[in-house]
Amino acid sequence: MPREALISGGGYEREDEAFFDSLRPRRLSEVIGQRKVVERLRICLRAAVSRREPFPHLLLDGPPGIGKTTLATVIPNELNVDLQMTSGAALTSPKDIIPYLTNASEFSVLFIDEVHRLPRAVEEFLYPAMEDFRIDFVIGEGIGARTINMPLKPFTVIAATTRSGMVSGPLRDRFLVHEHLDYYSVEELAEIVRVNARRLQCPLDEEAAVEIARRSRGTPRIANARLRWVRDYATARADGRVTAALAAEALEMLEVDAEGLDARDRQYLETLIRVYGGGPAGLEALAATLNVSADTLADDVEPYLLRCGYIIRTPRGRVATPQAYNHLGLEPATGKPARTRSRQKKLL
Ligand SMILES: Nc1ncnc2c1ncn2[C@@H]1O[C@H](COP(=O)(O)OP(=O)(O)OP(=O)(O)O)[C@@H](O)[C@H]1O
Ligand SMILES: [Mg+2]
Repeated sequence: MPREALISGGGYEREDEAFFDSLRPRRLSEVIGQRKVVERLRICLRAAVSRREPFPHLLLDGPPGIGKTTLATVIPNELNVDLQMTSGAALTSPKDIIPYLTNASEFSVLFIDEVHRLPRAVEEFLYPAMEDFRIDFVIGEGIGARTINMPLKPFTVIAATTRSGMVSGPLRDRFLVHEHLDYYSVEELAEIVRVNARRLQCPLDEEAAVEIARRSRGTPRIANARLRWVRDYATARADGRVTAALAAEALEMLEVDAEGLDARDRQYLETLIRVYGGGPAGLEALAATLNVSADTLADDVEPYLLRCGYIIRTPRGRVATPQAYNHLGLEPATGKPARTRSRQKKLL
């Protein structure tokens, strides 16, 4: 998925890999939130180490920027083993994955991002590698063809996906552990903002951490990007200290509203209401009207709007809820501006 699609609404359109990498937790103890997932992974880690076995194959799913890659990198750190990283989109045929499998050292981790994009032929090639630590391939053609059976070192596949529904049943079954990462609470995100402000040596008031957290769509990557913007704003417009009022002002300039929705989220809701009369509207139709890809809407925009109850999915398409009208200051019956509420006041 295009990274620039993840952080919209002005400011930093492109993810700055070095910046985000510097804030990525390295150890399980540094991972904030996702308590139940972390506890279960800790048990798997202890069991694998004490039995001298590979960590079980793990499938992580959840919306973008929620910590899937983070957890996938923390596990080999905890085990003190090698990590290889690839992506479903990069593995177009079985020969693309062979080097990763033959290079895998004992108990090492192979991280496959966007696993839902793995072609079927690669998936099927992976099954014996995951189940029995061996690969079978055919050399030669016709009557001279031979099947070579090659043993592999015991290793672990950690896969991540934003679309668990698109992972095939047989592939999903090969993962012994399946964890879903959900949106973070404001308190958890505020803790992430606090810790990262300290790392960035940015003086930040307690309420400012909460203000940024509240406006970060439950997502650590967005919280980090918004912290970065607020920090620059504080340096440029004030003395560098981030107060709650300054954080709100900086994020308003980014067109991030009090609920954390950005310009693109509001545009989605406005299109659904004004162009499609509140719905039902199909994903493809909305994507065409908004001039963005259907994938971006399905991965990035809709999950949070669904989660907050601004839209619902029906068999006939997406429908705006009264909460969406209310958020935009529109009258549910007419889709016209509500008389009682100033839209600007409600939003910011
Ligand atoms: N639990 C966490 N605690 C602290 N920081 C976190 C946590 N999860 C994620 N982050 C921060 O958010 C950033 C984005 O997380 P990450 O890259 O792991 O997301 P992802 O789920 O892999 O996203 P994508 O689907 O786009 O690949 C990380 O660089 C890290 O700084
Ligand atoms: Mg990732």
